[in-house]
Amino acid sequence: MTTLGTPLSPHATKVMLLGSGELGKEVLIALQRLGVETIAVDRYDHAPGQQVAHHARTIAMSDPAQLQALIETEKPHLVVPEIEAIATPMLEQLEAAGVVRVIPTARAARLTMDREGIRRLAAETLGLPTSPYQFCDSLAELQAAIDGGIGYPCVVKPVMSSSGKGQSKIDGPQDVQKAWDYAMAGGRVSHGRVIVEGFIDFDYEITQLTVRALGAEGQVETHFCDPIGHVQVSGDYVESWQPHPMHPAALEKARHIAKTVTDNLGGQGLFGVELFVQGEQVWFSEVSPRPHDTGLVTLCTQHQSEFELHARAILGLPVDASLRNPGASAVIYGGMEASGIVFDGVDEALRVPGTDLRLFGKPESFAKRRMGVALARATDIDTARHNAKLAASKVQPRRV
Ligand SMILES: Nc1ncnc2c1ncn2[C@@H]1O[C@H](COP(=O)(O)OP(=O)(O)OP(=O)(O)O)[C@@H](O)[C@H]1O
Ligand SMILES: [Mg+2]
Repeated sequence: MTTLGTPLSPHATKVMLLGSGELGKEVLIALQRLGVETIAVDRYDHAPGQQVAHHARTIAMSDPAQLQALIETEKPHLVVPEIEAIATPMLEQLEAAGVVRVIPTARAARLTMDREGIRRLAAETLGLPTSPYQFCDSLAELQAAIDGGIGYPCVVKPVMSSSGKGQSKIDGPQDVQKAWDYAMAGGRVSHGRVIVEGFIDFDYEITQLTVRALGAEGQVETHFCDPIGHVQVSGDYVESWQPHPMHPAALEKARHIAKTVTDNLGGQGLFGVELFVQGEQVWFSEVSPRPHDTGLVTLCTQHQSEFELHARAILGLPVDASLRNPGASAVIYGGMEASGIVFDGVDEALRVPGTDLRLFGKPESFAKRRMGVALARATDIDTARHNAKLAASKVQPRRV
């Protein structure tokens, strides 16, 4: 039996989000609706999720001492990582000591924190199909890995980075130095390690949202959402839609891969499994042990969005991962460096049939910062994609 408390009372059910961006904000709203007391943590003040939580805290989450002090002071029942750059060994320590439960598990947060942990687990421990890859610590090692079998074209990524930062494609020997320098400049922590992957010439890529939630007897059950198709530009998601049509054999392989990797990572919650598909062949790319940016589309396509699914699963509540109607999402970028920008044309955007909008409330805009997303439901994917992009284009960020 699951019992939930009253927020701001001695018997509150308390959940702490580590990272409070647009994805965390939606998880927090879902938790708020269930009367959970929420603590939104980020590295800067007024992060999107901090604006909708009971408590806002600003710390350096990669600093183990600050993280430990905050968790020990606030005493949340659950700690929910929303980003990768967290002092995960400290989370493992606190989880092992029984201080807190980490979602889905502290080990999963550590393994998915950089590209090496999860890639070695998927390919070497679990034997899942991935692109050929090698880890390199210098330009010379990178060149040797390419010459020794990875070949051209290939993709270089810092082991610690997301949203395509520091990532580039190498088409021939002339690009190697440039890709190395770009990776060194774009990595989150400058320890200079990269992964080089053989380029997969996929037909399309999907996110397989996968939920581990408790059944009536307290056993963990795996639920699959319909596949989400998406388009990435420079390693960053710009557009997504659901459902993405798939050959039944490819769908079966995708779900087998998703089940294998999420079974291993364990715990309860929603995962975003990224897969490449070519014909009936499927490759594992990476996994987020939390809601996925391409899954923003589920806000307009599913009975329970990926954020509601995550909130329910982590609290031990039943979930319904089914699709309600087709839909699409299109990203709205800041397009400029400025703080406190305004958005013109919101009414025009919402006049596009079947659309909805999320403006995240980020205090500062950058050219390539995701500031909002347009959502569109329709009876078919093509209409939904067209309308989502149209609505997004109507929203015009402006400096004041
Ligand atoms: N080996 C590869 N072959 C072909 N395309 C690739 C390969 N690796 C990455 N890509 C492309 O680059 C995109 C981003 O790569 P990846 O997901 O590894 O990086 P990321 O920085 O973690 O992105 P995000 O955090 O937005 O998911 C992929 O979704 C895919 O479109
Ligand atoms: Mg990715």
